[in-house]
Amino acid sequence: MLATHFLDVLYLIAALAFVIGLKMLSHPDSARRGNILAAFGMGLAVLGTLFLHPSAESFSEDDRRLKLLLMYAALAVGGGIGWRVAYKVKMTAMPQMVSLFNGLGGGCAALLAVAELKLQYMEHGHPAASGLILVLFTLFFGSVSLTGSLLAFAKLEELVKDSSIVLPRHTLVNLGFLAVILSLIGYTVWGAGDNGLTWGLILFGITLLYGFSFVAPIGGADMPVVISVLNSCTGLTAAAAGIIYDNLIMLVGGLLVGASGSILTILMCKAMNRSLMNVLVGSFGGPAAGSASIAGDQTIKEISLTDTAVLLNYSSSVVIVPGYGLAVAQAQKICKDLDAMLEANGVDVKYAIHPVAGRMPGHMNVLLAEADVPYTKLFDLEEANEHLAKADVAIIIGANDVVNPAALDDPSSPIYGMPVLEVWHAKNVIVMKRSMKAGYAGIENPLFYHAKTKMLFGDAKDTLQKLVSEVKAM
Ligand code: TAP
Repeated sequence: MLATHFLDVLYLIAALAFVIGLKMLSHPDSARRGNILAAFGMGLAVLGTLFLHPSAESFSEDDRRLKLLLMYAALAVGGGIGWRVAYKVKMTAMPQMVSLFNGLGGGCAALLAVAELKLQYMEHGHPAASGLILVLFTLFFGSVSLTGSLLAFAKLEELVKDSSIVLPRHTLVNLGFLAVILSLIGYTVWGAGDNGLTWGLILFGITLLYGFSFVAPIGGADMPVVISVLNSCTGLTAAAAGIIYDNLIMLVGGLLVGASGSILTILMCKAMNRSLMNVLVGSFGGPAAGSASIAGDQTIKEISLTDTAVLLNYSSSVVIVPGYGLAVAQAQKICKDLDAMLEANGVDVKYAIHPVAGRMPGHMNVLLAEADVPYTKLFDLEEANEHLAKADVAIIIGANDVVNPAALDDPSSPIYGMPVLEVWHAKNVIVMKRSMKAGYAGIENPLFYHAKTKMLFGDAKDTLQKLVSEVKAM
């Protein structure tokens, strides 16, 4: 009894740690501590459950040792692998890791639902409809999250090509899946009688297939949105499992994940000016998407390192636009060095941050915080566009889609309607990248052919290092 009360208190502390940790994640200065606090809460909840949960007392003496051993072993192996993978992951591969971990969470909830289904049929013969619906809800979202996230992981790791897994009229295929799944849920609850367990297992198999099919037609730049949708599915399924098992911390944790995943999804859709439905059935950036065409035989203009250094050093205001390439090149620190050197020479330097620059929400903020760029120098879309209109130089470092004017003026472009950083309003535009290759959305960028644009080709880190030396020598 005392142990149960103590466990309730631990759960309360853990829930508080989740909520405060989440709040702290909203600012770069406190994000790291917020993450540690939330992880501490989760550790408390897991260990508290393992050692104090009264259900362990119901194990028979023979079973007890083996069951506890299996649980500790799973915790050690899972925790060990999780720690190692998270420790080694590159910042640019974060979405893959989130997707994989999220899928495994969904898979756990789905397996709990299968176990609960079996238990309910063993104990009650034909369980009550309300309880059964909750279990099937958990089963559905958990399995969609598992296979959907695994496919998202494989796509992001480029293990699977979008074009190889999309069927003709794929949206209709998915609608067909949903119709079958809903009918099966109805039949399992109200029609199958004592055979409900068998139909529940058939449902499990079909929802696993549906998870793959749901993610298959989504590709390119829409992947973060689908990962976030699956993340909220995992949250909902964990919350439902919390209700089934009458477990407060599962319920609170699940609701927090579900709510934050949903908010993130809405924010990302807003940043791309697209509806969620359009993302989920639109095949944006996937194989069906065309490329924004660029007119005629336009040519690009290149600029030398020395000319770039002169232009930057004798400007009064420079706006840096960081993108995925800056992250891949790990050029944030040298970028900060260039910024400091220009500032010392009287140049005002600001950063324009697009909400989907890089490969994960807040990617550029995290990167620049790592290099100690003050947060006050970072401006999000609206304010950044105001500064860009007044800037002498906009220097784009490894960004592409987020500065593509086709989003504003080419209705045939797959990114048409997405708000972008309007760098072409600055007096001069310098684009730093290695080649003329497309960005994540796989489309041409007319900015590179703009009258104001000059290309500075090369790896971002290497080029910035050389620029720093040039500015130093002035
Ligand atoms: P991208 O459009 O992906 O363009 C990055 C550019 O960086 C590429 O064109 C590449 O050109 C260049 N690059 C790569 N490595 C480089 C290096 N070592 N040195 C210099 N340049 C390098 O990036 P973005 O503008 O940041 O846009 C992000 C895209 O990702 C959007 O389409 C967005 O929707 C999508 N996305 C965003 C997120 C979130 S939530 N942030 C998550 C997933 C996807 P070269 O190969 O020619 O060098």
